Amino acid sequence: MKPFLLVFPGMERLAAALAAELDAERAPVALHRFPDGETLVALPPDLDGRDAALLVGLRDPDRQALALRFAAVTARELGARRVGLIAPYMAYMRQDARFAPGQAVSAPIFARFLEEGVDWLTTLDPHLHRIPSLDALFSIPARRAVAAPAIARWVAANVPDAALLGPDGESGQWVREAARLAGLPFEVLTKRRSGDFEVTLSAPSARLARTHTPVVVDDIASSGRTMARAVALLREAGARAPVCVVTHAIFAGDALEVIMAAGAARVVSTTSLPHPTNAIEIAPQLAAETRALGWGAAPEG
Ligand code: R5P
Repeated sequence: MKPFLLVFPGMERLAAALAAELDAERAPVALHRFPDGETLVALPPDLDGRDAALLVGLRDPDRQALALRFAAVTARELGARRVGLIAPYMAYMRQDARFAPGQAVSAPIFARFLEEGVDWLTTLDPHLHRIPSLDALFSIPARRAVAAPAIARWVAANVPDAALLGPDGESGQWVREAARLAGLPFEVLTKRRSGDFEVTLSAPSARLARTHTPVVVDDIASSGRTMARAVALLREAGARAPVCVVTHAIFAGDALEVIMAAGAARVVSTTSLPHPTNAIEIAPQLAAETRALGWGAAPEG
């Protein structure tokens, strides 16, 4: 019998691509919100002996995490053999240190919460900065798909004369790799954040701005202010309208409008989180890492 891909609301498009890659049967994770805000989770009742993976987009993690735990526990109770998690966007990874006295260090706490519910997990380019690897964060098998090859291919096919620009030190890892794969020049700026909507970036070099079409690459656009500031600085330096590429399309509130208003020519994202900007398919990479964790393998013994 095929393994089950249990799909949280909103993730249907990626689920279709993943189910084809993983030869899985798709079923929805049905969520009912009661008037008082509690959530009722319902799964297909016939999981007996089958592998199951929960596919969730953690764009709104505080609301989704509890439902995710309920679904994971219920999948086991309904007889699933192993229960995994495919969370292309791993939330809470940016709070990986106590930046001010008294703050929670959310990344390891959230990781513990997730691994208490599932046997394994697959994610895409988690925001690993001060934490060196997924293995340093999770004690369950955890694998990381990488978007750089797909981003490099998309840029090579769609942006003539491109040069990549990372808006901050953290983005350097993805920008360097995509630039290497596409054989393109790149530059990484430095960033200082003073508030949710306030960021200051170092100036891009005039050479890069004038001679190429800048492609700003970052892992996350949340408030969109980092991308918008990079775009504005490039325009001030005389650059052509930049293209923006983001791996995890959170785009909270007016983020996309702010980036476009700053002078971007186009904003595209991977299919990690559903969004109108999705243009770079990421299902094959997620499926490959999921298969590497023994997805659908026959039971031992
Ligand atoms: C942080 O280092 C990340 O790589 C992103 O640059 C950041 O999350 C973007 O946030 P925002 O869109 O709110 O500026």
